[in-house]
Amino acid sequence: MSQFDAFTDFRMHGHSAIVTGGAQNIGEAIARSFSGAGAKVMIADLNGDKAKATAEKIANDTGNEVLGMACDVTKGEQIDACVATTAEAFGGISTLVNNVGWGKAYPDPLAVSAEEMVESYKLNTLAALNMTAACRPHLEQAANATVTNSGSLVGALPAFDFIAYSAAKAALNHAMLGLAHYFAKKVRVNTVLIGTVITPGYAEAGLDQKVVDALSHPDNLTGRAGRPEDVANAFLWLASPAGSWVSGQTIQVSGGGKRVRLIPDE
Ligand SMILES: NC(=O)c1ccc[n+]([C@@H]2O[C@H](COP(=O)([O-])OP(=O)(O)OC[C@H]3O[C@@H](n4cnc5c(N)ncnc54)[C@H](O)[C@@H]3O)[C@@H](O)[C@H]2O)c1
Repeated sequence: MSQFDAFTDFRMHGHSAIVTGGAQNIGEAIARSFSGAGAKVMIADLNGDKAKATAEKIANDTGNEVLGMACDVTKGEQIDACVATTAEAFGGISTLVNNVGWGKAYPDPLAVSAEEMVESYKLNTLAALNMTAACRPHLEQAANATVTNSGSLVGALPAFDFIAYSAAKAALNHAMLGLAHYFAKKVRVNTVLIGTVITPGYAEAGLDQKVVDALSHPDNLTGRAGRPEDVANAFLWLASPAGSWVSGQTIQVSGGGKRVRLIPDE
């Protein structure tokens, strides 16, 4: 039998993670992936009951410690409580995933109110900065400390129909790039630019079923929409020791993006 195990560096034993918005979909897949790799995981979600139920389900599947708690990441005192509870339960925090985010479609980008722009910024950008600030004392003491963010492809491409969301996700990319340089040798910071992963959130964002059906069959290089696990695998690489030479990056996990062809089909 081979002595070499290519997965050694992807294991996360000795790591303690917070995954925000981890009660469902992409966040749940990230929490499951980290837990399956050996990390202790706290699922911090607006929906505390769902966070606890998801944590229990994952812990049953992986045999590792997973907790869930209510935390609204737009509220400073709830962030502080989540960080204190996690650090006490796990003896530290090495790994932060800022996964909370949401965006609404607007038919007219110039009719979006200032309040809607600011609300989107608070949820998609500021919350991640505030979570990082609260975790900082723990991250700075941990080995292989990381902050990995759920960005969006629309934070890097023109997306006028999601103007509030795309502008806030673009700000997230830029702020996190700055933090990667600030933390330098102490904490690695990366952002995943996620493509289309169809979830019930698409209908809630104001898209009708015809649009969701079209998005389910995208013209990208892989020819399919993403699954939460496709995204979680990238987070595991970035947050585990396997990603230890990667920081300050925005990495697309999006089925390869839209297929470009110079000569049009007849
Ligand atoms: N699904 C996609 O196609 C897609 C594409 C690009 C980027 N993303 C990004 O990936 C991330 C996850 O997406 P998803 O589709 O799994 O989202 P989702 O809406 O299915 O789940 C988000 C979770 O966050 C929780 N949440 C919402 N507001 C919160 C708050 N204030 N505090 C704490 N928890 C809160 C919700 O309860 C929910 O459990 C988001 O940042 C999203 O912007 C998703």
